[in-house]
Amino acid sequence: MKLFKAFSMALIIGLTFSSSYSKAQSYNTMWIPDTLSGTNFNLAVKDTFKQIVNTGNQTITGGINGNIWGPTIFFQKGDSVHFNVHNYLNDSTTIHWHGMHLPAVMDGGPHQVIPPGTIWKPYWKVTNDAATYWYHPHLHEMTMEQITKGLGGLIIVRDPVERALALPRTYGVDDIPLVLTDRDITTSNQFSVVPYGDSMMVNGTLRAKYNVPAQIVRFRILNGAIERAYNIGFSDNRSFSVIASDGGLLNAPVAVTRYELHPGERIEILVSFNGQSGQSYDLKAYNSTLANFVAGSENFPNGPFANYLGKKDFVMVHFNVVAQTVSPSPITSIPSALRTNTLLSSANAAITRSLTISDSAGVTSTTILGPNAFIINHKLFNINQIDYKVPLNNTEIWQITNSGVFTHPFHIHDVEFNIISVNGVAPTAAQAGWKDVVVVPGATGAGPGGGGTPSVVKFIAKFEDYADSIHPFMFHCHISLHEDEGMMGQFVVKDQSTTTALAQAQKESKDFTLYPNPANDRLFVNFNHPSMQAYYIKLNNAVGKTLYMLPRPELNNGIDISHLAPGIYFIELTDELTKTTTTKKFIKQ
Ligand code: C2O
Ligand code: CU
Ligand code: CU
Repeated sequence: MKLFKAFSMALIIGLTFSSSYSKAQSYNTMWIPDTLSGTNFNLAVKDTFKQIVNTGNQTITGGINGNIWGPTIFFQKGDSVHFNVHNYLNDSTTIHWHGMHLPAVMDGGPHQVIPPGTIWKPYWKVTNDAATYWYHPHLHEMTMEQITKGLGGLIIVRDPVERALALPRTYGVDDIPLVLTDRDITTSNQFSVVPYGDSMMVNGTLRAKYNVPAQIVRFRILNGAIERAYNIGFSDNRSFSVIASDGGLLNAPVAVTRYELHPGERIEILVSFNGQSGQSYDLKAYNSTLANFVAGSENFPNGPFANYLGKKDFVMVHFNVVAQTVSPSPITSIPSALRTNTLLSSANAAITRSLTISDSAGVTSTTILGPNAFIINHKLFNINQIDYKVPLNNTEIWQITNSGVFTHPFHIHDVEFNIISVNGVAPTAAQAGWKDVVVVPGATGAGPGGGGTPSVVKFIAKFEDYADSIHPFMFHCHISLHEDEGMMGQFVVKDQSTTTALAQAQKESKDFTLYPNPANDRLFVNFNHPSMQAYYIKLNNAVGKTLYMLPRPELNNGIDISHLAPGIYFIELTDELTKTTTTKKFIKQ
C-alpha cells in the first residue's frame, strides 16, 4: 500500500475508470494553438466545451480565448508586456508565468488569486532568454483540477542570439509545439481529475498525427501532464538534437535517442527528416523503460494509480513526412554551436540552503487530500508561512535531499538555475544549461518499503531584480497532485537597503485623492506625499466585489475606467514601502 500513500480515500472513492482508449481508431490532425504577439495581451479564462472524442458527447473543458488550452504567446526579450487576464470561470483561479523572471506580485502564484469576474493586470519587462516557457493556473489545492480541464498555454521568447542562428522558426510548419499530457476520459467523454490518464493527448488532440516537411524540424516539447514522465524517442530510434532546456539555448546541440521529460519541463529539439518524404515515423513514449518509482512506471491493475499507459511504450504523435517547404526556405543542417552560456559559479554562492523531501509519515494535515502527502522540509505547505527570506542579489546553492523512494520534479519560481550535481554527478550536456525544473531521484537502492541512500541534488541560482516583502515566490514538486497535497514552500526576496526609507515613510501620511471625481474615462491618483507609490490597487464596486486587480499600477495616465457602468466605486490602494492600505470612494458618471 506504500505507493498509494499520496492519495486520499476521498479521491479513490470518487474515481471512475473507463476503457475509452481501447478502440483502435484513426489518427486526428494535431491542433496547433493560435498565437498572440505584441506587448498588450488579453486572456479570457473560461469554462467551455470541445469535441475531444470523435463521437459522443463534447467534453467540458477549460480554455483561454478558445475552447481548450490557450494561445501561444510570443515575447521579444526586452519588451514590456501588459496583460488583461479576465477570469470568466465560476471559480477563482491564478495564471502563473512558469519560468519568467518577474516581480512576485505579477507571478500568478497561489497568492495572486483572481476572483470570478475580475480582471488582473500584471505587466513586466521580459528579461528571459529565448526558450519555451508556459503559463498555467496555480490556485492552491485546485491546480490539478484546473490544469486537467485544459487551462494553460505556451510562451515563446525570442531574442537576438536565437534570431541570428539558422534554426527553424516558422510556427506550426518547421517549428512545432508539442504539449504532452494524458487524460482519463469517462464513458460520457469527460475528463476525470486523476493523476494518470489512459489516453495520450498532444496539443489537446487524441491520437495526434501531423505532417512534417522533409528537412530539419524543431519541436518545442512541454510535459504538461499532471504526473507522468515521458521517455521521448522516435519509432526508428533515430537520434535527435536537444538545443534548449527550460530557460534557454544550450551551448551546442546534444544528440540523444531518448529524453526523459518530467512535468513542467521543456526541451526544444531538432529532428532531421531530410530525404524522408513519403515516410512515417512515430514520436513515442518509451515508458516501459522508466525506472521504478518514476512517475509513469506504475503498472498496477487497479486502484488510483492504475492506468492503461503505465510502464508501456506508446505513440504520442504519428508524423507523415511530406515535401520540403518552399517558403520558409528549408533548414537542412543542424548548427554545430548555439550560444555561449556563462553559468553561475559556486565560488559566488553566499549560502547553501538544505531542503529535504520525504514521505509524510507522522505529519498530520488539514488539506483536502488528507495526511498522505509527500513533503518538503518535514511539513506541508502553509500559505501563511514564509519558509525563506532570500536577500536580494544573493547567489545561493539549493541542496535537496530526497529520502523518499519516489522521484519528484522540483520547480522554483523567479529564477532560472544551473544544476550542479545529481548524486555527486555533474549534469549531462542536455541539462547543463538553464533550468527551472530539476528531477530529484528517489533514494537509491530503496524498495517499496523505503530505505536506501537518500539522493542529493544541488543547483545554483541568483535572486536578482525583484524584492517584495509581502508576495512570495514558490518552490514545489511539479506533479500537480503532490503540489496540491502540500509539497510546496515559499520564499520572499528581501531588499535590505529599504529599511531606512521605510522608517522615514512610516512617519509620513499615506493619504491620497482621486480626481476628477466624478470621473468619466480616466481616474487619476494624487499622493499627498511624494514618497508614496502604489504597490497595489484594487478597484471595487459598491458591494465590495473586486473588478480590477492592478499590481504596481503605472499611474501617469490614470486608471482606465471607461468600461465601468455608472455608479459608486472604491479604490483600495496599498502603499509600496509601508504596505498601508487606504480606501477612497469615487463616482463613475
Ligand atoms: Cu509551473 Cu509553480 O509552477
Ligand atoms: Cu513556475
Ligand atoms: Cu512529487
